[in-house]
Amino acid sequence: EIAILIEGQTPLQEWPAHLFAVNDNIHKAGLLLNASFEKGTAIQAAFSNGTSSTLAELDYSGLRGRGGAGFKTAMKWRFCAEEKADAHYVVCNADEGEPGTFKDRVLLNSYADQVFEGMTLCAAIIGAKQGFLYLRGEYLHLYDKLQATLAQRRDENLLGTDILGLGLDFDIEICLGAGAYICGEESALIESLEGKPGIPRNRPPYPVSSGYLNKPTVVNNVETFMAAANIAIHGGDWFAKVGTEKSTGSKILSICGDCAKPGIYEYPFGTPIRQILDDCGAEDVMGVQIGGPSGTFISNQELDRKLAFEDLATGGSFIVFNHSRNVLAIAQNFTHFFAHESCGFCTPCRVGTSLLKNQLDKIVNGHGSAGDVAELEKICQLVKSNSHCGLGQTAANPILTTLQRYPDVYEKQLKDISYEPGFDLDGSLA
Ligand code: NAI
Ligand code: SF4
Repeated sequence: EIAILIEGQTPLQEWPAHLFAVNDNIHKAGLLLNASFEKGTAIQAAFSNGTSSTLAELDYSGLRGRGGAGFKTAMKWRFCAEEKADAHYVVCNADEGEPGTFKDRVLLNSYADQVFEGMTLCAAIIGAKQGFLYLRGEYLHLYDKLQATLAQRRDENLLGTDILGLGLDFDIEICLGAGAYICGEESALIESLEGKPGIPRNRPPYPVSSGYLNKPTVVNNVETFMAAANIAIHGGDWFAKVGTEKSTGSKILSICGDCAKPGIYEYPFGTPIRQILDDCGAEDVMGVQIGGPSGTFISNQELDRKLAFEDLATGGSFIVFNHSRNVLAIAQNFTHFFAHESCGFCTPCRVGTSLLKNQLDKIVNGHGSAGDVAELEKICQLVKSNSHCGLGQTAANPILTTLQRYPDVYEKQLKDISYEPGFDLDGSLA
């Protein structure tokens, strides 16, 4: 039904309500999803302990960005706070577009107060008066509810002027994306916030020094702000004692695909993939796409690997595949996705993702011949090394990670060109 609606270009507002029925399906809640939280307490804690000691606590917690890249949150906030400017901004990246990822939707549906509180905490630390929630266009169904949460927070003096009588002025505006995956890239997101096409900027300078309107800006993922609010309340140690040395705390995952219990799960970093698959009822596993198409495809020989920045990092997506799936079809689907979502700004990605798509289609459709897999790999390396932003730099991952694990599957798909004796390669009689 969704496919038909997209095909017919039905405006999002006119989609039947049942397509937006939000079922959070939280199967396993841990540190964050179970944390006790009372509105306003993170802001109060920041002011009673002092913003610099709250930042030190955040540093001690070891919290790293939950969008996938894992940059240290305290370091980002400190860099931004240290920038001299007449305005600073806080941006929550809720443009969750990685196929298979839906945990931010659940957090915004059920934990929005904690996310907004984390943004307010960040504002207190970096000296911002304005924040933005950049909401994925397809999450329009959350818009009214989020606006109501913001209105409630204004009524309770948790947003607006002189928040809780602490001398902090800060408010949050919700901006809707329009369906472009690239706007999840932070600098494209900022361009979009400024009303321009979502084309990624050169980085550096990073947003902490030149972000929204070229002012110092913190851009963090939904889950990062939620974690920061809880760390301000429960302390850095509460968070740091969970997880591994390099990946402290827990990770919230969206799990889907061939498993009996798709939905939301929270695990301490360091948890083996095998345990996660057991919990979600995955059987006969052929492989798992971790971190969405831009991440890594692992085979069933790697299930003892760990959920951790130092092993398998993810923004929050697991797609499980059983043996009824064809690994080439998976790579093909994701490769088409990137070719479609390339913003077209730089040639290596604009042309390269289409070349990848065509070359892979040729092989999958049985028209590939000797040398075509090598050629495919060559294009992958070109796109990866020469593209302007993360989209192009990771667009070849579905091919590269499956090719590395299943080279025989690719080779077997090539045409068997065995020439009859007596004929030259061009087919003419010898
Ligand atoms: P990155 O490593 O370039 O940057 C990560 C963050 O750290 C950014 O906010 C950046 O501004 C900041 N940063 C990095 N170096 C800095 C410095 N020297 N000074 C100040 N700030 C600095 O990663 P990027 O390209 O922003 O994000 C890529 C990640 O996004 C990938 O890991 C991918 O998994 C994830 N991703 C997540 C999606 C989702 O739906 N959650 C969608 C697509 C990708
Ligand atoms: Fe746009 Fe792709 Fe270039 Fe990124 S790599 S700027 S998405 S064309």
